[in-house]
Amino acid sequence: MFFINPAYANTFMPPEASQFAGPLDSLYSFLIISSLIACVLVIGGFIYFAVKYRRQTENDKTAYITHNNVLEFTWSFVPFVIFMVVFAWGWIIYNDMRTFPEDSLEVHVVAQKWNWSFLYKSGKESAEEMVVPVNKPVKLIISSKDVLHSFYVPAFRIKQDAVPGRYTALGFTATKKGNFQIFCTEYCGTGHSAMLAKVRVVSQEEYEEWLRQGDPYEGMSLAEVGQKIYSQRCFVCHNTTDQPLVGPGFKGIWMRERTFVKGDPTVADENYIRESILNPAAKIVAGFEGKVMTPFAGQLDDKEISGIIEYLKTLK
Ligand code: CUA
Repeated sequence: MFFINPAYANTFMPPEASQFAGPLDSLYSFLIISSLIACVLVIGGFIYFAVKYRRQTENDKTAYITHNNVLEFTWSFVPFVIFMVVFAWGWIIYNDMRTFPEDSLEVHVVAQKWNWSFLYKSGKESAEEMVVPVNKPVKLIISSKDVLHSFYVPAFRIKQDAVPGRYTALGFTATKKGNFQIFCTEYCGTGHSAMLAKVRVVSQEEYEEWLRQGDPYEGMSLAEVGQKIYSQRCFVCHNTTDQPLVGPGFKGIWMRERTFVKGDPTVADENYIRESILNPAAKIVAGFEGKVMTPFAGQLDDKEISGIIEYLKTLK
């Protein structure tokens, strides 16, 4: 539509890895370049007139200012046309983003403080990364278990709030293979800046192969499974030392007596840890009033919970 060279205005942009990235960057470049031209014209004209018509003698008087129809129409109509172009251009891209092709691959994205999980129709669940095939339309169905989060992939130029109590959607087609960063871009508490994940874009064959891989913990001991889950899901709030972060530090917690805001003390055994993962509000450790973790019920299976228990036993 317009000839512009985005190479100059876009050097600070992330890689272009979805079908929206190119068109959006062109629009963005157009905005930057047209704003720059307008800025130079207005500020330049301002300086030029200030110098040219400066007061030179004591006798200089302000001239009677009249108006100029042609000039006034021009400086109103030209910006109007530019704004309408930007509006139409933006609307076309937005409409594209909100139209999900029928054959889209659907992936459920679940946000919770402070991590992302991805659920596939095959029943496969993934925590650390979302894997999608290249050049295939993907529709994300996004929800949140606790507060407002926002799913953001800069390289895809897409962003959508995750809202508790409802589903939102986001579509894209990845055009480049590789790993791309996912951010949470709605402030959601202490662990907000660590609420990260990756999109891994692969070929259709690699994607199908990845879907078939049943057990992500094959060949790992239970404690190793627990350590892996810790590094994906727990590290934002829990240290592996005895120092508290958002929640208590994990070192030495195994079989130690825990005292609570309410109720009798309990020894930190298997049942206590299981309950604290699935229903953290049941027993709040004294000193952590008001810092309730979002429940992991439905997020972790029995093997994963056992893995965490075995991992905690190793943190002596
Ligand atoms: Cu989740 Cu910020």
